[in-house]
Amino acid sequence: MSSSDQTVTWRELLVEATQTFRTAGIEQPAMDARRVVEQASGAAPSELLLLLDDPVTERALGSFDAMVQRRSAGEPLQYVLGAWSFRSLDLMVDSRVLIPRPETEAVVEIALAELDLLGAQERTCQVVDLGTGSGAIGLSIAVERVRTQVLLTDRSEDALRVAGANIAGLGRPGARVSSRLGSWFDALPNDLLAKVDLMISNPPYIPTAVVLPEQVADWEPAGALRSGPDGTDDLRLLIDGAGEWLQKDGVLVCELSPEQAADMLALAQSRFRDARIEQDLTGKDRALVARGPDLRSR
Ligand SMILES: C[S@@+](CC[C@H](N)C(=O)[O-])C[C@H]1O[C@@H](n2cnc3c(N)ncnc32)[C@H](O)[C@@H]1O
Repeated sequence: MSSSDQTVTWRELLVEATQTFRTAGIEQPAMDARRVVEQASGAAPSELLLLLDDPVTERALGSFDAMVQRRSAGEPLQYVLGAWSFRSLDLMVDSRVLIPRPETEAVVEIALAELDLLGAQERTCQVVDLGTGSGAIGLSIAVERVRTQVLLTDRSEDALRVAGANIAGLGRPGARVSSRLGSWFDALPNDLLAKVDLMISNPPYIPTAVVLPEQVADWEPAGALRSGPDGTDDLRLLIDGAGEWLQKDGVLVCELSPEQAADMLALAQSRFRDARIEQDLTGKDRALVARGPDLRSR
């Protein structure tokens, strides 16, 4: 769209973006066009209809054009918009971090119930989110359970920068959140040994040989996805090592894929007093919940 066209309206741009996305083979052209127009215009979803016949400023047009170009080139909508919602949060996301997924929202729900059993409504609970990416899991917990202290870790400096921006955007709950760089337990300070109430992780769990959709393989960070031949290298490491960091009734919650559930449950049963598998909203095995580390392993 030419910036010399002074009379262009959001309605025209919505049609233009839908057509461009359709031609580019984007799966849901109308929905993506709507999100791009909302973002460029600054309209909330409920306000869009009210401003469709408003003239577009040159600045907004520049932002619209750039977003349409990026999306048409196949970049995920979430990165193009630069923000994505996760539970109650509007998180900054870009190609330095995994796009937070709906199944992970369910894993957070499971973890919150475990925290409540540990008394998180009445006392301060220490939470660690290992491999935090955008901070989606840990920041949701910090916001939804106001007595938690939350530590976010990642081995990717880039990811921690994004998580840092999201901590800053959190307001007051952000004061209860900190972050540390490092590989899994190496990132943790010694004073957390045997003190953690909830350790939670959505680690990489895709088997090496699985062919990923182009939009994932081409755009999402490689270090966030794969974990050995059956995808369980990192899960095994977490289940093996969490015990010494958890307090005696502490809980480990890990996201996994359904075909990994039986093996990871068996491993967790050999390291914890109780372990079980929980399902996501579509009924698929999605989370390992392991409570009470076997203290003989300390
Ligand atoms: C599947 S992504 C999950 C991101 C985020 N927690 C979420 O649920 O959207 C896995 C994350 O683990 C991080 N990661 C991978 N290997 C790691 C390691 N050895 N130590 C710490 N973090 C790691 C990646 O950088 C990535 O941010």
